Amino acid sequence: MSSIKKTSKRKDHRGSSKSSPRSSSKNEEAGNAAWDQAARWYDALVGMQGSEYQQSLILPGALSLLELKKNEQVLDVACGQGVFCRYLHDRGFKVEGLDVSSALIDAARRRSPKTVSFHHFDAGDPEALQGRTFDAISCLLAVQNIEHLVPVLKNIKRWLKPEGRFVMVLTHPCFRIPRQSHWEFDETKKTQYRRVDLYATETKIPIVTPPKNGARGHTTTYHRPLQSYFESLASAGLAVDRLEEWTSGKTSEPGKRARAENRARQEFPLFLALRAIPINNQAD
Ligand SMILES: C[S@@+](CC[C@H](N)C(=O)[O-])C[C@H]1O[C@@H](n2cnc3c(N)ncnc32)[C@H](O)[C@@H]1O
Repeated sequence: MSSIKKTSKRKDHRGSSKSSPRSSSKNEEAGNAAWDQAARWYDALVGMQGSEYQQSLILPGALSLLELKKNEQVLDVACGQGVFCRYLHDRGFKVEGLDVSSALIDAARRRSPKTVSFHHFDAGDPEALQGRTFDAISCLLAVQNIEHLVPVLKNIKRWLKPEGRFVMVLTHPCFRIPRQSHWEFDETKKTQYRRVDLYATETKIPIVTPPKNGARGHTTTYHRPLQSYFESLASAGLAVDRLEEWTSGKTSEPGKRARAENRARQEFPLFLALRAIPINNQAD
């Protein structure tokens, strides 16, 4: 039984065409445009090889969970400017990327070898990559940017071979909720703790992008509690078979609060990684 309060009702997603994703609603159009306007900033932030956390935690962690074998084919959903595609390609794997933002797909094509194919689609489009299947699918740091998750997960189920694996990595939804969670320090206990003001309510949070004063654009984070992710995966015919929680490897400069800060970093994971496999006898 679900006790989740929802701020907005889920609705069916309508598809988009290959060269120029069509959108079913003003919201979805705004979502596509949001990542187009943020593309230059995001591309500069990530660069060729990824941010510090991507390089140290996310890319190697996702690769390990995918358990790829030689000659297996991978699809990176919501690939952005292609950092994970390049990471896999450099290690000898066959990989393709898909993203709704034409500006990020352009950046991915510019930055990556020609042998990596990039597809411009909304990941929830029922017409996307018709007839294609993959051994493994990833979606890194993006499920929280996707408004309608179930159609995307249904596509992922459709694209996965029966023995396939789907790995998604997200900022930890229990501890990292933009504007609703942050660090605080308890002077009596000398403890750094995580304050969480909202968790169970699905919430839409605009994020000013690029994050600087005077920026006018924004992307959107869709916060969902863990229960929503498990329900959405199950309704798409996917079952979680691995869950990992990754903490920061950073340490504080020596100082009064350094010990408490280092302890807190180890107590509260930054990222959640879920691996799911198809439930084979479920109809598509
Ligand atoms: C924070 S970026 C992550 C990009 C990349 N996975 C990475 O790790 O650098 C979020 C990405 O989700 C993509 N995205 C959001 N909604 C999408 C959708 N419905 N279909 C495909 N991509 C989507 C955005 O265009 C953007 O590239």
